[in-house]
Amino acid sequence: MQAKYLDKIIVTFVLELNKELITSEMSIDIQKIRSDFPILAEKIYNKPLVYFDNAATTQKPQVVLDKLIEVYTKYNSNIHRGVHFMSNKATVETEEARNVVQKFINANQSCEIIFARGATEGINLIAQSFGEKYIFENDEIIVSEMEHHSNLVPWQMMAQKKKAKVIKWEFTDAGELELDTLKNLITSKTKIIAVNHVSNSLGTINPVKEIIEIAHQHNIKVLIDGAQAVQHIKTDVQDMDCDFYVFSGHKIYGPTGIGVVYGKEHLLEEMPPYQGGGEMIENVSFEETTFNKLPFKFEAGTPNYADTIALAAAIKYISEIGIDNIAAYESELLHYGEGKLKNIPGLKFIGTAKNKTSVISFNIDGLHSYDVGMILDKMGIAVRTGTHCTEPVMIHYGITGTVRASFAFYNTKEEIDKLYDGLLKVVEMFA
Ligand code: ALA
Repeated sequence: MQAKYLDKIIVTFVLELNKELITSEMSIDIQKIRSDFPILAEKIYNKPLVYFDNAATTQKPQVVLDKLIEVYTKYNSNIHRGVHFMSNKATVETEEARNVVQKFINANQSCEIIFARGATEGINLIAQSFGEKYIFENDEIIVSEMEHHSNLVPWQMMAQKKKAKVIKWEFTDAGELELDTLKNLITSKTKIIAVNHVSNSLGTINPVKEIIEIAHQHNIKVLIDGAQAVQHIKTDVQDMDCDFYVFSGHKIYGPTGIGVVYGKEHLLEEMPPYQGGGEMIENVSFEETTFNKLPFKFEAGTPNYADTIALAAAIKYISEIGIDNIAAYESELLHYGEGKLKNIPGLKFIGTAKNKTSVISFNIDGLHSYDVGMILDKMGIAVRTGTHCTEPVMIHYGITGTVRASFAFYNTKEEIDKLYDGLLKVVEMFA
């Protein structure tokens, strides 16, 4: 951790992670961090904003906003194809951003990092391209029941195209995926397993390393949706040995409209392009086209270089604070929040996995999640309500939705106290 983040608040805590007790002493300068995010000073209905919708999108630190302004005011120019100074500068910054992402998720090579619009486009890219090459009639794609629609619908579309089948991997009522269940689903027809690293609606951290190990014993590839993971826990694609990993920039304090696809080089080499045009070509004649090398083969059109460069600024920012420090602090918030909220009359947690990120999904007896969310909003508290784009999760529990409070490292226990007080008022109003 850098000196600027040291000293002000010392939080000592015990974190139960991976069934191991880790005692850690953490220093986080929460006031400094909050002042890095201008939007946190906003008032909503004349009340201080309490932003607990971080799983939907995170707020942006000033360094990210400054980086966007820098690109557009100092060297905005289309990349990879200009001979002039600004084009060269924008190209260098973009490729440096690729190196930042490579290092952040510990990919082996920068050519394994492809920029897309977000995790959703990344999964569509893999489903279409991998599916085109490797999925055929009657093949099977295992998808967990707790996936965001973005990691289910692209596979349904691919399966329909190739007459393949999507196989549901059910989770337990606690919101956990069991490896024995997976083993029973695997057949000689299974081609790929698509599963999230962290569930957006339940907060479950899935045992991705074990899942990948089992899959690889059967020569099955694995795509991990990391949209809810990279901003909370350390991500090492080589250590987990995943074949594909995707995440979105806007959920990791970066801009909207940019995301990352990681793929093992030999797989990406074998897979056909997803879209045509722009920098993805090597040579074009009217008769045929040859394709560019990785990663450009998968980056058709003018790349979103401004947001790519700003994404790198976001990653550098959180890396300075330290992802382990973030994980530890957010875990503290999670346990504090669960401890408080369980005292709300009629409140039931949805998703009680042992290993979770800082997401609390819940319902209150007799109340619709929208009503709870709308009343909290009037108190300046932003939570998510509804299905969170995970309708199969809601079907599993037989509910129409949940209230979801998702914490980031700029949130505080005082804000959780406000949520608690707000929920007590909601309950009183409807009593
Ligand atoms: N995927 C986002 C969420 O979980 C929108 O809220």
